[in-house]
Amino acid sequence: MRDAKQPEHPKRPIRSYVLRQGRLTAAQSKALERLWPVYGIPPGAECLDFRHLFGRHAPVIAEIGFGNGEALAAMAREAPDTDFVGIEVHQPGIGHLLRMLDAESLRNVRVANVDAVEFLRERVPDASLSAVRIWFPDPWPKKRHHKRRLIQPDFIRLLGQKLVPGAIVHLATDWLPYAEHMLAVLQADDGFENLSATGTYCARPAWRPQTRFERRGARLGHETRDLLFRRCTAGPSTQHEPGP
Ligand SMILES: C[S@@+](CC[C@H](N)C(=O)[O-])C[C@H]1O[C@@H](n2cnc3c(N)ncnc32)[C@H](O)[C@@H]1O
Repeated sequence: MRDAKQPEHPKRPIRSYVLRQGRLTAAQSKALERLWPVYGIPPGAECLDFRHLFGRHAPVIAEIGFGNGEALAAMAREAPDTDFVGIEVHQPGIGHLLRMLDAESLRNVRVANVDAVEFLRERVPDASLSAVRIWFPDPWPKKRHHKRRLIQPDFIRLLGQKLVPGAIVHLATDWLPYAEHMLAVLQADDGFENLSATGTYCARPAWRPQTRFERRGARLGHETRDLLFRRCTAGPSTQHEPGP
């Protein structure tokens, strides 16, 4: 029976994406069928045990909204001693990533095909992630759509809960008004400290792979901004740029 306190038509959550249908190629579709059992995180309600999921104990880094997965595959290749969780709602991109992982026999990646907000809230243990990377999230440029932007105060608080102290949130965007919004949201959260020497943006770390959306932005003449914030431990610590 419905809880009397619940509204009859509960408000639908505001999503940071619109699902585009029906653009799976035959190869992506085959890859999803064959490789999802290897790399996919089955849907469920229980909190994950990363040690069990990857079969070893290693730092875990999440990439949210990995698109076609090029950057995620590159990171997994470059850091075999780190485990990566990719979260993406767009199935063709997942199919594309699975094919790359399989072609290179990369085994340090698992993929969730679900809204990252729900996944973090329900499936990721507190203080379990060594870094979160969100590169070129949808900018939602129109003012009436700003509420759909993924980077919001509540979301940053949720990230703070899931990161180990000292872990890094790394954002990048080619949309200046979104970069300014990201900066304001992160600066306002006292659980994070900015790693930028200027108190604004960081130089793009040499190790950050270029993404498909970044290339698209560059073709349009957009400039990219990287934001690196560290999850505070007890108090602000010495600033330095982290490695890969
Ligand atoms: C603009 S694209 C960027 C993709 C990739 N990072 C790149 O730079 O090429 C943003 C991606 O984020 C995904 N996305 C948006 N909101 C999401 C959410 N709440 N959970 C998971 N994925 C999301 C979209 O499906 C899309 O693939």
